[in-house]
Amino acid sequence: MPIEILPTDSVIGAEVRGLTLAEVPRGDTLELLEDALEKHGVLVFPDQSRVTPAQQVAFSRPFGPVKLVGGEHEKIAGNPEIFVVGNTGKEPVIFAPTIAGGELEWHTDHIHLPDPARASLLLAREVPKSGGDTLFACMYSAYDALDADTRMLCDRLEVLNSVSGLNVYLEGQGYSEQAKPAPQADPPTVWPLVRAHPRSGRKALYFGNQVSIGIVGWPEDKARAFIADLTEQACRPALRYRHHWKAGDAVLWDNRRVLHAGTPYDLANERREMHRTTIRETAPIKLVPPA
Ligand SMILES: [Fe+2]
Repeated sequence: MPIEILPTDSVIGAEVRGLTLAEVPRGDTLELLEDALEKHGVLVFPDQSRVTPAQQVAFSRPFGPVKLVGGEHEKIAGNPEIFVVGNTGKEPVIFAPTIAGGELEWHTDHIHLPDPARASLLLAREVPKSGGDTLFACMYSAYDALDADTRMLCDRLEVLNSVSGLNVYLEGQGYSEQAKPAPQADPPTVWPLVRAHPRSGRKALYFGNQVSIGIVGWPEDKARAFIADLTEQACRPALRYRHHWKAGDAVLWDNRRVLHAGTPYDLANERREMHRTTIRETAPIKLVPPA
């Protein structure tokens, strides 16, 4: 069966048909997926319930190193590369507001680490009847839509990223201590606010509205206000794809050109269990030199 890539009606996102995560992508298939990932930002693979955790890891490896970080505690026995997101484990892992309409946590995975995630693959094992969607926002479009002066300003800025910003957010949402990632021992990472995608050269905004805690050379208040304003523009509904999960959906996204955010669900009465593999960058992210 030939592989089909069917774009969504949104500015990003496509469904991939004719392919199972049980097969390790190589050669032309890997190239096709890399192209589609860069082009569409978010790839949805329906009906992957029968894929095992080991197969998910094997599928992920050709895209880059697959590795968790120390603070990520929920793992599947025998598959230490799988991170469990949701409320089914001993300790909940929920990076979403607690109420509908609450402030979202827009982010790109592991921007606070020296080797951030270049891509992430989430496979839905159990999903709530409603809520628990994932929103994705196109950071190519967000950058392109800025006015010329703001683009030039953003091109020069470097952002400080730390899990401390996320923990302040989770505290504000009323989550328990156990739900928070371990405090970051290392200083914040410093990455450019604008990065060029290595595959296309296109520029994308690269930040998170909670985890980006400052801008190099700026007072903290001014930086936080700028990031809040940028989030509002960059993640506005017109630039989003919303994924409503079905059990067995797998979604691979490109952290180099999309931000994502979880939406709330009924934590007391519903179960949500998602298995994530995290594919890491292998080179530092650099400022884009002026043209
Ligand atoms: Fe995430």
